[in-house]
Amino acid sequence: MHISNIMEVSSLNKTLILLVLVLATFTTMAQGQGSRGRGQGTRVGFYRATCPRVESIVQSAVESAVQANRTIAPGLLRMFFHDCFVNGCDASVLIEGPSTEKASGPNSLLTGFEVIDAAKAQLESACPGVVSCADIVALAARDSVVLTGGRRWQVPLGRRDGLVSQASDTANLPGATDPITVQIRKFADKGLNTQDLVTLVGGHTIGTAACLLFSYRLYNFNNTNGPDPDINQAFLPQLRALCPNGGNAFRRVAMDTGSVNSFGNSFYENLRNGRGVIESDAKLWSDRRTQRYVQGFLGVRGQPGSRFNAEFGRAMVKMGNIHVKTGRQGQIRRVCTATN
Ligand code: HEM
Repeated sequence: MHISNIMEVSSLNKTLILLVLVLATFTTMAQGQGSRGRGQGTRVGFYRATCPRVESIVQSAVESAVQANRTIAPGLLRMFFHDCFVNGCDASVLIEGPSTEKASGPNSLLTGFEVIDAAKAQLESACPGVVSCADIVALAARDSVVLTGGRRWQVPLGRRDGLVSQASDTANLPGATDPITVQIRKFADKGLNTQDLVTLVGGHTIGTAACLLFSYRLYNFNNTNGPDPDINQAFLPQLRALCPNGGNAFRRVAMDTGSVNSFGNSFYENLRNGRGVIESDAKLWSDRRTQRYVQGFLGVRGQPGSRFNAEFGRAMVKMGNIHVKTGRQGQIRRVCTATN
């Protein structure tokens, strides 16, 4: 074979090898995008190279806000739940406008938005255009739990921010008067099972509820002219004193009586003792489908129940992967209140 032919063959080989390599890379990338699109694409340490201080920046924003006002912690935890259940965890709950999720009834009592904005502003100066608002919300929820005494978990990151936010989509959020069957279905629609439901509602251990959301249970429940029979007789006067008939509808009452500032399983002890405040919480004990999981979180023979604190993080990671946008989907917002 002539020398120039050999040259031609070897350069052809090189071209072929290069082509195969390029194709292989594309296929891997496409597969990566595909699995990310199905919600598997978040991972711990996503910003390790691009914004290594992300976790400490969010943490210090949450810490200083909670130090100034401890009700911020439950606010941020609930914000994450309301974000994930509507259009997936994509910060759609933060967008402002006349008919966005934020303007809807179910989100009217959400708090803590300014903490997300403060963290975002700091992140934009540390690593511009890199960290999504959706990831800030996920981290802030975790930090709120840790600050109130819950167990820390690692938060997979890499969510991208959504472009759509519509008030009407919030109808699928669970409501306090939803029967257990509906609650179970609404969680199942998001890929969460009954155990996840009972575990995640345990977030109410640090929460408060406005009188308007449960005072109907205290006086004329279902037109019976009496209280909800699920409420413990000894607890009833306490709740009535906090929410007198016709009193301030916006007064806030602890959902985990006696332990509202500390994250833990006492919430489930209260449910067992007929001291659930909102109707949907009380039903977790009265319905056998959920009671077995409540029972699983009660302390055993003087040992405080630590299982709940461990399970909560696991369930939060699962909730945090609902319909996440990754890869080239969505965008990284410049400010969290509006799309770019
Ligand atoms: C069946 C599901 C659920 C229902 C029906 C429900 C309902 C409610 C209601 C009615 C309130 C009182 C709102 C107010 O007065 O401002 C509330 C507060 C709260 N919820 Fe839920 N919730 C559910 C699940 C969850 C989940 C999964 C989480 C988080 C993992 C969560 C976290 C919170 C927190 C932390 C608060 C207190 C907010 C604050 O104090 O500012 N909830 N929830």
